[in-house]
Amino acid sequence: MISNDLQADLQTEVERRRNFAIISHPDAGKTTLTEKLLLYGGAIHEAGAVKARRAQRKATSDWMAMEQQRGISITSTVLQFEYHNAQINLLDTPGHQDFSEDTYRTLAAADNAVMLIDAAKGLEPQTRKLFEVCKLRLLPIFTFVNKLDRPGREPLSLLDEIEKELGLQTYAVNWPIGMGDRFKGVFDRRTQEIHLFERTAHGSKAAADTIVNLGDPRIEQLLEQDLYYQLKEDIELLEEVGSELDLDLVHQGKMTPVFFGSAMTNFGVELFLNAFLDYALKPYARVSSMGEVAPSYPEFSGFVFKLQANMDPKHRDRVAFIRVCTGKFEKDMTVNHARTGKTIRLSRPQKLFAQDRESIDVAYPGDVIGLNNPGMFAIGDTIYTGQKLEYEGIPSFSPELYAVMRNPNPSKFKQFQKGVSELREEGAVQIMYSVDESKRDPILAAVGQLQFEVVQFRLQNEYGVETLLDLLPYTVTRWVVDGWEALEKVGRIFNTMTVKDSLNRPVLLFRNEWNCQQLEADHPDLKLSKIAPLTS
Ligand code: G4P
Repeated sequence: MISNDLQADLQTEVERRRNFAIISHPDAGKTTLTEKLLLYGGAIHEAGAVKARRAQRKATSDWMAMEQQRGISITSTVLQFEYHNAQINLLDTPGHQDFSEDTYRTLAAADNAVMLIDAAKGLEPQTRKLFEVCKLRLLPIFTFVNKLDRPGREPLSLLDEIEKELGLQTYAVNWPIGMGDRFKGVFDRRTQEIHLFERTAHGSKAAADTIVNLGDPRIEQLLEQDLYYQLKEDIELLEEVGSELDLDLVHQGKMTPVFFGSAMTNFGVELFLNAFLDYALKPYARVSSMGEVAPSYPEFSGFVFKLQANMDPKHRDRVAFIRVCTGKFEKDMTVNHARTGKTIRLSRPQKLFAQDRESIDVAYPGDVIGLNNPGMFAIGDTIYTGQKLEYEGIPSFSPELYAVMRNPNPSKFKQFQKGVSELREEGAVQIMYSVDESKRDPILAAVGQLQFEVVQFRLQNEYGVETLLDLLPYTVTRWVVDGWEALEKVGRIFNTMTVKDSLNRPVLLFRNEWNCQQLEADHPDLKLSKIAPLTS
């Protein structure tokens, strides 16, 4: 029997939750924006704290030494903060310079995405790739055009690029007045007010906002004449030719609300956060083996979207990150593990704030919890109470880097096999094998160089195996959807390597897109997929 209290509690908590991940290219300002969001959310009081925390971390392990050498953050974080009585969960780590499959997987746990763009650079490669995953998942996308305090591209040309290249309709929620040295602020179309920009001392404190109405006579003194006329012209143009804001389209991932600002100087961050709160999707129903289950379904369920090893060097432990999908999570609760049928007591749940771990007692749909993982969890696993249910799983994404990995020391054969197999299960890297049975060396397949380094590092540190890598010249991956038979019909394919994935499915590796397109043109019946088909 589900109590009315639990139902009401769940309803309230789901209503006030918003969860998102930031998609961007390195240097667009993700760390900076994250910090500023936390600043406005009151989670930190002085920006710089996130970076400072990173710098303070002592090199207590080789693992962390690796992070420090590279000046990046490999370990993951989920940041949770309150804002206007909403509970906001920001997934993903600030400061990822390198791409890895985790970056993609995080999007499987997100309900919304914020696409952060550098105003001078427009759409960049990593953003485009991550956008594709968002599109696949039909995630609502909110665009923040950053660095307006520096010279950048015309706002209209940026909108045009998003529309044409990503096929997303745009709706500018606010509009910039000037740019670079002449950046004066933004016009908020929601309230018809102008927010004037004041340079704060590196934006370390929340900026005091000066707001004037568009009709206010002071505007002509506050803005230089050309900027004032330009603004009026732009607003008219947007009203005439731009689309109306349609939240249904936003929620279907077909229209993106666009915001302009400067994260470094805090400008536009609060406006963005307020609108995001109003427009973003709350945790919603997800597809499972039981059909769609709403977050208010009173039994607890969630899925593993990320596994992380060695966050705490003293314990050499592993953490499984679970996205809570339904019901209420409570410390010490006993859950079922759908894949193995085992029962598990979740005794040490954790919430993560930067490097600090805090024990948690309860969590609700939209939240992420970290569980100690003594090797029982794999990416995509479902845990639940009540009637059995299983979520769809997380596919493997298209690798772009390949290397054959060799173990030069025969006496380490067992450790090598074990290490490779465990790291694959954990999702650190994808493993392919040659179709030639005599070639036993595993082929590592990754979306980012960092994954190779992490695997080699961990094999040496955790399994005591030094390995060698021979890079392969392939950059484009396609799974053959209908399996080996479909492939045999095609016969010999040139400029391509055929390998099998860990589930013995055929995968084609191409040197470049052009080779791949040629094959597709020659054999239109051969169904190819950029993402591994989900097999249950
Ligand atoms: P990332 O996590 O996306 O890689 O980017 P990050 O926030 O580290 O920002 C990259 C650089 O861009 C930083 O400069 C940062 O200060 C700068 N930046 C971010 N937002 C803005 C903005 O709104 N305006 C301007 N002008 N710059 C911005 P850096 O010199 O690499 O680092 P730092 O010396 O500031 O730490």
